[in-house]
Amino acid sequence: MEKLIMLPGPTKIPSEVLLAMAKPIIGHRTKDFGELLEDTIEKLKKVFITDNDTFIVTGSGTAAMDMAISNVINKGDKVLTIITGVFGERFAKIVETYGGEVVKLEVEYGDMADAKVVKEILDENEDIKAVTVVHNETSTGARNDIEAIGKVVKDYDAIYIVDTISSLGGDYVNVDKFNIDICVTGSQKCLAAPPGLAAITVSEKAWEVIEKNTPKNFYLNLKEYKNYYYEKKQTPYTPAVNLVFALNKALELLLEEGLENRVRRHENLAKIVRKGLENLNIELFAKERARSITVTSAKYPEGIDDKEFRVY
Ligand SMILES: Cc1ncc(COP(=O)(O)O)c(C=O)c1O
Repeated sequence: MEKLIMLPGPTKIPSEVLLAMAKPIIGHRTKDFGELLEDTIEKLKKVFITDNDTFIVTGSGTAAMDMAISNVINKGDKVLTIITGVFGERFAKIVETYGGEVVKLEVEYGDMADAKVVKEILDENEDIKAVTVVHNETSTGARNDIEAIGKVVKDYDAIYIVDTISSLGGDYVNVDKFNIDICVTGSQKCLAAPPGLAAITVSEKAWEVIEKNTPKNFYLNLKEYKNYYYEKKQTPYTPAVNLVFALNKALELLLEEGLENRVRRHENLAKIVRKGLENLNIELFAKERARSITVTSAKYPEGIDDKEFRVY
């Protein structure tokens, strides 16, 4: 029996996507895999809306967050980390892990960051090497205006790093228009593929920094991903081949529906869910101006216990 997963992802997966995983395995150093990889990456670029280099990583979304930071940051580099919830905090922890200095912009949970404050901090700290932001804070149901922040960051040397793990494919993301230098996502949320793959886009501005750096991480070294992809249409290490079959099918279904249509569907469903909760007198958590369209957060009514309600 199929169970309803009481989490904001992994999301429900269409049976065509599950069945795509049941294909016979193919070698990851073959022409067949090269074609699959290239086709999946080209589809991903249409969803990210970018011409930037795009790579698939075997790992969860956090692997791509780690890849973004470990390829850009050197010991002592300053990173402006916008924190609107748990996943913003995660970026801060990753920066600290690689010896970076975190400059925090902390926002009340349930609210969004103000692009004007981002500008003030960048003006006060000319040496900020990167800015990180989580588009859709799954932990609070609030989303940041990544377009407004991108307009600010593009006038500075800082590399703009955005987590779209719970928004890509379900909310308005446009990597090129929003001036995003590095954009990361995961397979298991709005893309509606199984968990286990992450994706990352890299702009020319980001490559200029990455090419000069010595790698801080072996498995997630972006230069290796670039070399293997452009020289051989391969990944440096054995990828989760059958998950790539599934991701390719999930992207095919997304593009068939149409990206705009899918986003609008999320927007409409979010309105319906909110209306329903309001009718039940259940208070929404995120501030109205910051409300996500892929995750609705609400406060439990008195007497209802989260663990009992969700039955882990
Ligand atoms: C916004 C956001 N960032 C990062 C993550 C971490 O992703 P993963 O669990 O795939 O490593 C999640 C997972 O829920 C998320 O929602």
